[in-house]
Amino acid sequence: KIFLVLLATMFFVFSLMGCSISKKSAKNKNVRIIRVAHNQSEKHPTHIGLLAFEKYIKQNLGNKYDVQIFPNELLGSQVNTVELTQTGAIDFTVASNAILESFDDVYEIFNLPYLFSSPKHYHAVMDEEEIIEPIFTSTEDSGFEAVTWLDAGIRNFYTVNTPIEKPEDLKGLKIRVQQSATNVRMMELLGASASPMGFGEVYTALQSHVIDGAENNELALTNNLHGEVAKYYSYNMHQMVPDIVIGNLEFLNSLSKEERAIFEEGFEILNKVQRDAWADAIEEAKKEATEMGVEFLYPDIEPFKEAVLPLHEEVLEGNVKLKPVYEAIVEKEKEVSKEGE
Ligand code: GCU
Repeated sequence: KIFLVLLATMFFVFSLMGCSISKKSAKNKNVRIIRVAHNQSEKHPTHIGLLAFEKYIKQNLGNKYDVQIFPNELLGSQVNTVELTQTGAIDFTVASNAILESFDDVYEIFNLPYLFSSPKHYHAVMDEEEIIEPIFTSTEDSGFEAVTWLDAGIRNFYTVNTPIEKPEDLKGLKIRVQQSATNVRMMELLGASASPMGFGEVYTALQSHVIDGAENNELALTNNLHGEVAKYYSYNMHQMVPDIVIGNLEFLNSLSKEERAIFEEGFEILNKVQRDAWADAIEEAKKEATEMGVEFLYPDIEPFKEAVLPLHEEVLEGNVKLKPVYEAIVEKEKEVSKEGE
């Protein structure tokens, strides 16, 4: 009798356990993991913005989607993660506009040096839906769509041994650029030799003198420790290249209208939180870099501008569909400078 009671109890307990296990796995089965890759550290404004995005999706669609963020090039360099996003192996990646031009030439536009006259002009253009939306949604054939942009500051040259005070100082130097034909051409016009490579390779290349310098915003000096090796940072301000968040097209199209609206809200939160964190992060990086022994230089930017401006004509002649966008950007400049008067 005792044996029978025990057996029945065990049966009862096991069936309860089974129930809860199957409920749990059923729940997990319904949750779709969303993989987001980027190449920055966990301190970077982009990671902070993505955490806010993750939180928002969890709060609003947590029963269906689980956002997982992979920082620090964990899933590969940006070129790799764009490819993974195209095939749907991952769902989103943050890519510099610089490398996107080789996936879709519509992105050549934001790689032009001295395209924006100030951060205010840059932000006004990137926030202008009429200019941005047609670009963001025009890359269907490339398997991805851009969902928002992120601030990546102003790009300047930094070097190990040679302070850059005028374009001539770049002559013969090997400077790392992103994997972008426009950037390679820009360096040619400045008389330097361009070494295209992924972001994660730059520190070792600087340290082993494979390159003499690179170009980036100030966070590269601290978050990526380039300031340990490169001691001169010159504010020649040649580019403001946005980071673009791209999503796999099939995934985006699989969302219901309601879900898409929630994701859109999430993208806006990502944009806002990242940009809000930017200014403080730059101030902090300048302080930290100074403590690392980096010297900041403020050269006259006009000679740099003069050397590379022919690139605007060159790119527009080779890619005529960009002309109206370019004109809208020039127009925006007038608007922004009028507002400032
Ligand atoms: C910046 C930018 C990154 C980019 C990097 C680079 O950090 O935000 O998206 O990858 O520059 O120079 O490669």
